[in-house]
Amino acid sequence: MKKTIVSRQNHPLFRQVYDHILNRIDRGEWSAHTKLPSIRLLADEINVHRLTVFKAYRGLTDDGKVYVKDKSGYFVSEDSVYSKKTQKDKVVSTYAVSNSLADIHRIPAKYQFSQALIDPNLLPNIYLSEYVKKVFDLYPKVMGTYASIQGDEELRGSLSEHFRENHHLQLSSDELLITSGAQQAISMIAQVMLGPMDTVMVERPTYSSALDIFRRQGARLIPVSITPEGYNLDEVETLMHTHKPRMFYMNPTHHNPTGYTVPAWQRKLLVELAERYNCLLVEDDPFRDIYFDKPPPLPLFAYDTEGWVIYINSFSKYIAPGLRICAVACRYPFMEQLIKAKSLADNGTPLLNQKIFLHYYTSQRLQQHLEKLRIALQVHKEIMEEELSLAGWEWRAPEGGLNLWVKLPRNISSEALFRMSIGQSISFVPGEIFDPLGELRSWIRLSYSFANEILLREGMQRLTALSRTF
Ligand SMILES: Cc1ncc(COP(=O)(O)O)c(C=O)c1O
Repeated sequence: MKKTIVSRQNHPLFRQVYDHILNRIDRGEWSAHTKLPSIRLLADEINVHRLTVFKAYRGLTDDGKVYVKDKSGYFVSEDSVYSKKTQKDKVVSTYAVSNSLADIHRIPAKYQFSQALIDPNLLPNIYLSEYVKKVFDLYPKVMGTYASIQGDEELRGSLSEHFRENHHLQLSSDELLITSGAQQAISMIAQVMLGPMDTVMVERPTYSSALDIFRRQGARLIPVSITPEGYNLDEVETLMHTHKPRMFYMNPTHHNPTGYTVPAWQRKLLVELAERYNCLLVEDDPFRDIYFDKPPPLPLFAYDTEGWVIYINSFSKYIAPGLRICAVACRYPFMEQLIKAKSLADNGTPLLNQKIFLHYYTSQRLQQHLEKLRIALQVHKEIMEEELSLAGWEWRAPEGGLNLWVKLPRNISSEALFRMSIGQSISFVPGEIFDPLGELRSWIRLSYSFANEILLREGMQRLTALSRTF
């Protein structure tokens, strides 16, 4: 694993600039026969040496992607946008709006192990419907007004209290922003923080939609290994020192896809590293409350006194994915920038959703629901584990979350298994989707949270039987 990371870091900078220019052409920023920015302008914009841009332009010229006209500069050749004209959708979907995970989720399957979502029968839908009525009685004008851009004041007040009491986060309601899901939060943070060619540290593997968002921003990704013991802090420090990343996007608690949790002692040190190297830590924490035996360590945000952590806590997973409620905690001045981004995105998350969520969240029912849910999910996990161990597959039992990160037997590639299993209406996510380097082909993510117990056992038996045919 180490070797690949090293080789990617050694990928010459001019080649990364070459790819960056092609990506911008793909996105339609520069069309055929458009003059490209001068070497000086582009070098200043993406913060690299002029010689690097010169080498990238020369490579593109040699490959016929760009041509030189007299002495007036570099122009986009017909050739590099040819594919766009003939296969427009393909180009757009592979770069500008790519979301590989969503593509997999669109494939219908009876045995659904690809969605890291909870079976809707285990979620509090019935209670939520009661709160809909209550909310309309309490706030008759709820549909006739906009929410505040930052989020409903009452909800932010309750959440800041909850975070203080339960997670030791010292927060005022002004330091919270409500977004429409964690996905919107990641996207807004990327818009605010990242320019073309900025570097972002990401775990390897990691939540793939975040990778797609960072790629869309034109960022360079620097992978950091995550293991059952957390990160290698020497590696983290070296990468921060060498690449000066703008941020490190992390999911350190019941991590998606691996289920690993970064230990408490590393959390404090990571915040110190972030301060030392001016690297923002974006802590994505949607699985914190889904644990089996004991609660996980405190969020990194709890150790942050200087404002280097942005904390994203979505409630999509265990309350209601359909409400799209997520809380983002951060200090000023980042908060100001995020509020501006939120106003451009949608002018505020729907007030009705926030009020329904608030009334459920502050009720006794939430705790009762969580206690039952943890037991149900543990049963699901154990069914999946039983079938895996009968088949001799390898995984590390997670302490929470919704997924198992499974190493396939030596002779099986995730891609081949995926093709066969889709034919049998079984879905899972191949490991390479989560890999910033697009490798990890002997790993798959199996979610145990969506299929009911009967389908879970049946589907796992079919999947492991399929693997025996290799
Ligand atoms: C790590 C991680 N972040 C963010 C999300 C998206 O969450 P939301 O539904 O709140 O947008 C997911 C969903 O699977 C996730 O696993």
